[in-house]
Amino acid sequence: MLIAVTSIKSGGCTTFAAALAAVWPSEPGLLVEADAAGGDLGGWHGVPDTPGLATLANACRSSGPVDLAAHVTRLPCGIDVVVAAAGRPQASAAVGLLADTEPARWAKERPTILDVGRLEPSSPALPLLEATDVVLVVTRGDVLSLKRVFDAELPTDRAQLVLVGEPAYRPEEIAATVGLPVAVQLQWDRHSAEVIAGTRRARRAWKRVGMPATARTLALTLAKTPEPQGRDRR
Ligand SMILES: Nc1ncnc2c1ncn2[C@@H]1O[C@H](COP(=O)(O)OP(=O)(O)O)[C@@H](O)[C@H]1O
Ligand SMILES: [Mg+2]
Repeated sequence: MLIAVTSIKSGGCTTFAAALAAVWPSEPGLLVEADAAGGDLGGWHGVPDTPGLATLANACRSSGPVDLAAHVTRLPCGIDVVVAAAGRPQASAAVGLLADTEPARWAKERPTILDVGRLEPSSPALPLLEATDVVLVVTRGDVLSLKRVFDAELPTDRAQLVLVGEPAYRPEEIAATVGLPVAVQLQWDRHSAEVIAGTRRARRAWKRVGMPATARTLALTLAKTPEPQGRDRR
Protein backbone atom coordinates (compact mmCIF):
# COMPACT_ATOMS: atom_id res chain seq x y z
CA MET A 1 0.00 0.00 0.00
CA LEU A 2 1.31 3.45 -0.93
CA ILE A 3 -0.05 6.50 0.87
CA ALA A 4 0.85 10.14 0.23
CA VAL A 5 0.63 12.72 2.99
CA THR A 6 0.57 16.32 1.84
CA SER A 7 -0.53 19.77 2.89
CA ILE A 8 -1.46 22.96 1.15
CA LYS A 9 0.26 25.11 3.74
CA SER A 10 2.77 23.94 6.32
CA GLY A 11 1.28 22.52 9.47
CA GLY A 12 1.82 18.98 10.63
CA CYS A 13 2.43 17.02 7.43
CA THR A 14 5.73 15.40 8.49
CA THR A 15 4.54 14.83 12.05
CA PHE A 16 1.37 13.06 10.95
CA ALA A 17 3.16 11.04 8.22
CA ALA A 18 5.71 9.85 10.81
CA ALA A 19 2.97 8.94 13.29
CA LEU A 20 1.10 6.97 10.62
CA ALA A 21 4.24 4.99 9.74
CA ALA A 22 4.90 4.38 13.44
CA VAL A 23 1.46 2.91 14.15
CA TRP A 24 0.84 0.91 10.98
CA PRO A 25 -0.78 -2.40 11.98
CA SER A 26 0.65 -5.88 11.38
CA GLU A 27 3.93 -4.73 9.91
CA PRO A 28 5.89 -1.50 10.46
CA GLY A 29 5.26 1.24 7.93
CA LEU A 30 8.08 2.83 6.00
CA LEU A 31 8.22 6.62 5.81
CA VAL A 32 9.76 8.11 2.68
CA GLU A 33 10.63 11.80 2.84
CA ALA A 34 9.62 12.89 -0.64
CA ASP A 35 9.39 16.60 0.20
CA ALA A 36 11.05 18.62 -2.55
CA ALA A 37 11.52 21.51 -0.10
CA GLY A 38 13.90 19.33 1.92
CA GLY A 39 13.68 16.61 4.54
CA ASP A 40 13.36 17.35 8.24
CA LEU A 41 13.82 14.05 10.01
CA GLY A 42 17.57 13.71 9.43
CA GLY A 43 18.20 17.11 10.98
CA TRP A 44 15.66 16.60 13.77
CA HIS A 45 17.27 13.34 14.87
CA GLY A 46 20.87 14.08 13.92
CA VAL A 47 21.11 11.19 11.45
CA PRO A 48 22.86 11.39 8.06
CA ASP A 49 20.84 11.72 4.85
CA THR A 50 23.07 9.17 3.12
CA PRO A 51 21.95 6.45 2.63
CA GLY A 52 18.54 7.92 1.99
CA LEU A 53 16.28 9.25 -0.75
CA ALA A 54 19.11 10.08 -3.16
CA THR A 55 20.76 6.65 -2.89
CA LEU A 56 17.35 4.93 -3.20
CA ALA A 57 16.44 6.97 -6.29
CA ASN A 58 19.81 6.16 -7.88
CA ALA A 59 19.47 2.46 -7.07
CA CYS A 60 15.99 2.42 -8.66
CA ARG A 61 17.40 3.84 -11.88
CA SER A 62 19.78 0.94 -12.32
CA SER A 63 18.42 -2.27 -13.78
CA GLY A 64 19.46 -4.54 -10.89
CA PRO A 65 17.35 -5.49 -7.88
CA VAL A 66 16.77 -2.76 -5.27
CA ASP A 67 17.75 -3.55 -1.68
CA LEU A 68 15.28 -1.19 0.02
CA ALA A 69 16.67 -1.84 3.51
CA ALA A 70 20.04 -0.43 2.45
CA HIS A 71 18.46 3.04 2.14
CA VAL A 72 16.43 3.02 5.36
CA THR A 73 17.41 4.64 8.68
CA ARG A 74 15.73 3.63 11.94
CA LEU A 75 15.10 6.72 14.08
CA PRO A 76 15.58 6.56 17.86
CA CYS A 77 11.78 6.62 18.30
CA GLY A 78 11.59 3.43 16.20
CA ILE A 79 10.33 4.81 12.87
CA ASP A 80 11.98 3.54 9.68
CA VAL A 81 12.66 6.39 7.27
CA VAL A 82 14.18 6.98 3.89
CA VAL A 83 15.70 10.33 4.80
CA ALA A 84 15.88 13.21 2.33
CA ALA A 85 18.58 15.88 2.32
CA ALA A 86 17.58 19.03 4.17
CA GLY A 87 18.47 21.33 1.27
CA ARG A 88 15.86 22.08 -1.39
CA PRO A 89 18.13 21.56 -4.44
CA GLN A 90 19.33 18.13 -3.29
CA ALA A 91 15.93 16.96 -2.05
CA SER A 92 14.13 18.27 -5.11
CA ALA A 93 16.57 16.48 -7.44
CA ALA A 94 16.17 13.19 -5.52
CA VAL A 95 12.36 13.46 -5.52
CA GLY A 96 12.44 14.10 -9.27
CA LEU A 97 14.61 11.02 -9.81
CA LEU A 98 12.38 8.85 -7.64
CA ALA A 99 9.26 10.11 -9.43
CA ASP A 100 10.84 8.90 -12.68
CA THR A 101 11.14 5.33 -11.40
CA GLU A 102 8.57 2.57 -11.24
CA PRO A 103 7.00 2.81 -7.72
CA ALA A 104 6.75 -0.98 -7.53
CA ARG A 105 10.55 -1.02 -7.34
CA TRP A 106 10.60 0.74 -3.96
CA ALA A 107 7.08 0.56 -2.56
CA LYS A 108 6.13 -3.08 -2.84
CA GLU A 109 7.83 -4.59 0.20
CA ARG A 110 6.19 -2.63 3.02
CA PRO A 111 3.27 -0.28 3.61
CA THR A 112 4.85 2.99 2.50
CA ILE A 113 3.95 6.51 3.59
CA LEU A 114 5.25 9.29 1.36
CA ASP A 115 5.67 12.69 3.00
CA VAL A 116 5.43 14.90 -0.08
CA GLY A 117 5.23 18.12 1.93
CA ARG A 118 3.48 21.16 0.56
CA LEU A 119 1.74 20.51 -2.71
CA GLU A 120 3.15 23.21 -5.00
CA PRO A 121 1.75 23.15 -8.57
CA SER A 122 5.30 22.65 -9.91
CA SER A 123 6.38 20.05 -7.35
CA PRO A 124 8.50 17.20 -8.77
CA ALA A 125 6.56 14.95 -6.35
CA LEU A 126 3.32 15.33 -8.34
CA PRO A 127 3.83 12.20 -10.52
CA LEU A 128 4.24 10.18 -7.32
CA LEU A 129 0.67 10.99 -6.29
CA GLU A 130 -0.65 9.14 -9.32
CA ALA A 131 0.80 5.89 -8.00
CA THR A 132 -0.71 6.20 -4.53
CA ASP A 133 -3.76 4.44 -3.11
CA VAL A 134 -4.73 7.39 -0.90
CA VAL A 135 -3.70 11.05 -0.65
CA LEU A 136 -4.10 12.39 2.87
CA VAL A 137 -4.28 16.19 2.99
CA VAL A 138 -3.27 17.57 6.37
CA THR A 139 -5.06 20.80 7.14
CA ARG A 140 -6.42 22.90 9.95
CA GLY A 141 -10.18 23.18 10.07
CA ASP A 142 -10.49 26.98 9.86
CA VAL A 143 -12.16 28.72 6.96
CA LEU A 144 -8.97 30.04 5.37
CA SER A 145 -7.16 26.68 5.46
CA LEU A 146 -10.23 24.91 4.07
CA LYS A 147 -10.56 27.44 1.26
CA ARG A 148 -6.95 26.72 0.28
CA VAL A 149 -7.71 23.00 0.18
CA PHE A 150 -10.84 23.66 -1.88
CA ASP A 151 -8.82 25.72 -4.39
CA ALA A 152 -5.95 23.22 -4.65
CA GLU A 153 -5.70 20.74 -7.47
CA LEU A 154 -6.03 17.42 -5.67
CA PRO A 155 -6.81 13.95 -7.02
CA THR A 156 -10.44 14.05 -5.83
CA ASP A 157 -10.90 10.30 -6.36
CA ARG A 158 -8.26 9.48 -3.72
CA ALA A 159 -7.84 12.56 -1.53
CA GLN A 160 -9.10 12.63 2.07
CA LEU A 161 -8.72 15.26 4.77
CA VAL A 162 -6.77 14.97 7.99
CA LEU A 163 -8.07 17.77 10.23
CA VAL A 164 -5.47 18.90 12.78
CA GLY A 165 -6.55 20.73 15.93
CA GLU A 166 -10.05 21.89 16.82
CA PRO A 167 -11.98 22.40 13.57
CA ALA A 168 -14.31 25.39 13.32
CA TYR A 169 -17.06 23.23 11.75
CA ARG A 170 -18.42 19.71 12.02
CA PRO A 171 -16.58 17.12 9.87
CA GLU A 172 -19.72 16.48 7.78
CA GLU A 173 -20.02 20.20 7.01
CA ILE A 174 -16.34 20.37 6.06
CA ALA A 175 -16.59 17.28 3.83
CA ALA A 176 -19.66 18.68 2.06
CA THR A 177 -18.12 22.12 1.55
CA VAL A 178 -14.64 21.04 0.48
CA GLY A 179 -15.89 18.02 -1.47
CA LEU A 180 -13.48 15.58 0.18
CA PRO A 181 -14.17 13.08 2.98
CA VAL A 182 -12.66 13.61 6.42
CA ALA A 183 -10.38 10.63 7.10
CA VAL A 184 -9.60 11.56 10.69
CA GLN A 185 -9.61 14.40 13.20
CA LEU A 186 -6.17 14.67 14.76
CA GLN A 187 -5.58 16.34 18.10
CA TRP A 188 -2.84 18.89 18.72
CA ASP A 189 -0.45 16.80 20.82
CA ARG A 190 2.81 18.51 21.68
CA HIS A 191 4.19 15.50 23.54
CA SER A 192 3.97 13.11 20.58
CA ALA A 193 5.09 15.82 18.15
CA GLU A 194 8.22 16.34 20.25
CA VAL A 195 9.00 12.61 20.23
CA ILE A 196 8.74 12.65 16.44
CA ALA A 197 10.82 15.84 16.26
CA GLY A 198 13.51 14.25 18.43
CA THR A 199 13.29 16.79 21.25
CA ARG A 200 11.72 14.36 23.74
CA ARG A 201 12.72 10.77 24.50
CA ALA A 202 10.19 8.21 23.40
CA ARG A 203 8.64 6.20 26.24
CA ARG A 204 7.65 2.67 25.32
CA ALA A 205 3.93 3.45 25.16
CA TRP A 206 4.20 6.71 23.22
CA LYS A 207 2.38 5.28 20.19
CA ARG A 208 -0.60 4.08 22.23
CA VAL A 209 -1.87 7.45 23.40
CA GLY A 210 -2.74 10.85 21.97
CA MET A 211 -2.21 11.70 18.34
CA PRO A 212 -0.45 8.41 17.35
CA ALA A 213 -3.38 6.44 18.81
CA THR A 214 -5.77 8.49 16.68
CA ALA A 215 -3.53 7.96 13.63
CA ARG A 216 -3.75 4.23 14.35
CA THR A 217 -7.54 4.23 13.99
CA LEU A 218 -7.03 5.59 10.48
CA ALA A 219 -4.20 3.14 9.75
CA LEU A 220 -6.46 0.25 10.77
CA THR A 221 -9.17 1.47 8.41
CA LEU A 222 -6.74 1.97 5.54
CA ALA A 223 -5.11 -1.41 6.12
CA LYS A 224 -8.57 -2.94 6.69
CA THR A 225 -7.17 -4.77 9.72
CA PRO A 226 -9.27 -5.32 12.86
CA GLU A 227 -7.68 -4.13 16.13
CA PRO A 228 -6.38 -7.18 18.04
CA GLN A 229 -8.64 -8.09 20.98
CA GLY A 230 -7.56 -7.21 24.51
CA ARG A 231 -4.90 -4.78 23.40
CA ASP A 232 -3.95 -2.19 26.03
CA ARG A 233 -4.94 1.13 24.38
CA ARG A 234 -4.84 3.28 27.54
N1 LIG B 1 -0.51 17.20 15.84
C1 LIG B 1 0.46 18.02 16.32
N2 LIG B 1 0.47 18.35 17.62
C2 LIG B 1 1.43 19.17 18.14
N3 LIG B 1 2.41 19.74 17.39
C3 LIG B 1 2.45 19.44 16.08
C4 LIG B 1 1.48 18.57 15.47
N4 LIG B 1 1.78 18.47 14.17
C5 LIG B 1 2.88 19.23 13.98
N5 LIG B 1 3.28 19.82 15.11
C6 LIG B 1 4.43 20.74 15.26
O1 LIG B 1 4.26 21.78 14.29
C7 LIG B 1 5.50 22.06 13.64
C8 LIG B 1 5.36 21.82 12.14
O2 LIG B 1 5.07 20.45 11.95
P1 LIG B 1 5.58 19.62 10.69
O3 LIG B 1 5.11 18.24 10.88
O4 LIG B 1 7.04 19.85 10.48
O5 LIG B 1 4.74 20.33 9.54
P2 LIG B 1 5.02 20.34 7.96
O6 LIG B 1 5.68 19.05 7.61
O7 LIG B 1 3.64 20.47 7.36
O8 LIG B 1 5.89 21.51 7.69
C9 LIG B 1 6.54 21.18 14.32
O9 LIG B 1 7.17 21.94 15.32
C10 LIG B 1 5.74 20.05 14.92
O10 LIG B 1 6.36 19.50 16.07
MG1 LIG C 1 7.38 18.61 6.53
